Amino acid sequence: MPKPVVLVTGANGEIGKSLLHTVAAQGGFEVVTLDLSLPPDTIRSLVSASYAGNIMDRYLLDQVAAHHEVDTVFHLAALLSARGERDPELAHQVNVEGTLNVLRMAQNQSARLGRSVRFIFPSSIAVYGLPSLEEKRAVGRIREEQWNVPITMYGCNKLYCEHVGRYFNLYAHQMGNPSASRLDFRSIRLPGLISADSVPIGGTSDFGPGMIHAAASATPYSCSVRPDARIPFMATPDAVRALLDLASVDRERLTTSVYNIGAFSLSAAQIADRVKKAFPAARIDYEPDPVRTAILASWPEDVDDARARKDWGWEAAYPWDRAFDEYLVPNVTAKYR
Ligand code: SER
Repeated sequence: MPKPVVLVTGANGEIGKSLLHTVAAQGGFEVVTLDLSLPPDTIRSLVSASYAGNIMDRYLLDQVAAHHEVDTVFHLAALLSARGERDPELAHQVNVEGTLNVLRMAQNQSARLGRSVRFIFPSSIAVYGLPSLEEKRAVGRIREEQWNVPITMYGCNKLYCEHVGRYFNLYAHQMGNPSASRLDFRSIRLPGLISADSVPIGGTSDFGPGMIHAAASATPYSCSVRPDARIPFMATPDAVRALLDLASVDRERLTTSVYNIGAFSLSAAQIADRVKKAFPAARIDYEPDPVRTAILASWPEDVDDARARKDWGWEAAYPWDRAFDEYLVPNVTAKYR
């Protein structure tokens, strides 16, 4: 009998690598990865199998499902917001059609195993679309159901997939199998993430981690958004812990399938000030890009995460001071030494 495994798509990305290290440190899971290429050696030693391929490839997903008893899916593969605006059709293919393929595979596994496969989906603050900076300031901490009118293809894709996931939770029979166990879809709207290990690619919130990594590696940084552009951010280890916590909580405790989680909210200038204090030689200037500026203006200043706190005890371990002084500065300094 194959052992139950955790499948991680997009495993080579920023969240994926951090998730795999955390899961390996905790033990107790066998992990299978799927990404466009095989993972680096540092990751390969942590997992029991890896597949190189595209989530658009349904045959490959069927193969993964045939070889493994997939118990939980962390579906991290995605094309981020700024990259998505350069090629919206590709973003739609990866973020919607690809997600549908993975959902379908997980639903088939639920039916085959006779129990609900847990499907953990990182959504994003990109699902929000504030119409103006005035409204953004007036709303402040946004609740899950407010302003669900995204202006990016990525935001549209994530919002739609949240709904499709909720649909899969409700109606296994609609997928052609009346007696099947339903999928157990759970989603978190992540803020901009800041990792000490890597700089993300293709996101609009990349300026946050970008400034810190550039300063630590003595590289001048040109910030692509205005100094007053402000959104919620989070240290990547907190996001990973949230995904793992949400995956492990009993279904009965969940009152919704989509949760905000918050840690701290900062403007580009506030990050730059802190970076310059820690790295006095840092050179940061601003060359706002109109597309990124508009995207940032439409994202909320902060999120109301009361529901996640109440339902599954969410609380950030890294508020800004701790994230910066204890996690980011020591680790990025060591990385570029
Ligand atoms: N960090 C993502 C981006 O900037 C948002 O989820 O696209």
